[in-house]
Amino acid sequence: MAHSPIGIFDSGYGGLTVLSKIHNLLPDYDYIYLGDNKRAPYGTKDFDTVYAYTLEAVRWFFGQGCPLVILACNTASAKALRTIQQNDLKAFGSDKRVLGVIRPTAEVIGNYSATNHFGILGTPGTVNSQSYLIEIEKIFPKAKVSQHACPLWVDIVEEGKIETDDAAEVIKNDLAALFCQDADIDCILLACTHYPLLQKEIEKNLHAGVKLLSQGEIVAQSLKEYLSRHKDLEQQISRGKKIAFYTTGNTDNFDKNGSNFFGAKVTSKQVTL
Ligand code: DGL
Repeated sequence: MAHSPIGIFDSGYGGLTVLSKIHNLLPDYDYIYLGDNKRAPYGTKDFDTVYAYTLEAVRWFFGQGCPLVILACNTASAKALRTIQQNDLKAFGSDKRVLGVIRPTAEVIGNYSATNHFGILGTPGTVNSQSYLIEIEKIFPKAKVSQHACPLWVDIVEEGKIETDDAAEVIKNDLAALFCQDADIDCILLACTHYPLLQKEIEKNLHAGVKLLSQGEIVAQSLKEYLSRHKDLEQQISRGKKIAFYTTGNTDNFDKNGSNFFGAKVTSKQVTL
């Protein structure tokens, strides 16, 4: 069988947290990961830019033989996925698929709260797109959802400042701002692929009974179910158990930092989109 891996895309390192959970659950498939580190972050960029960059990445994945691409980036899922699915996908071939991380998360989030009050933490791009509000409202119309953008959190992770006093202060203030909107929130979604690395620091600020939800396992489970419903697609994916890592940025940096996100050694190649 030809090498036809599942493509996993992120603006940088964050999608490695999602790939790690997908790979744990579905270890037999081949995967190819691309981080657009050279042009990250996406979270503060406008719609047209995120769309153009994401489309370039999707084109690259299809050129690598991927039948399926997962946008493991909330910002790209919020700003580019729908347009790519509706306007661009046909040109790549009717059997090609691109999926995001917002819909699968929205489909299950209602199961994680007793109060039905939810908090969403994400990049300014994800929060301003209102994508989570729209998707959750469709599936759980009675859910009360509050959002808060955390523009500094990606930099805290990227710059290795997770355990600093400055980071602790920023995280405390952002969580206070979220609970100020709604004190009854008992489920907070980390709607950015970088935020799981801040989990310990975030939890220090939460009352017992508030659940912190990361997307990796949710997206992995949703992919498993999707593939079992789409056998034609599933049979196109090669099963060599290989993962290839690519970055548009510096490979030494990617290999050094990527292992923290992926939880295992990462060796990347550089690519120009
Ligand atoms: N991967 C992005 C996300 O999940 C965060 C990093 C960025 O801003 O590029 O929204």
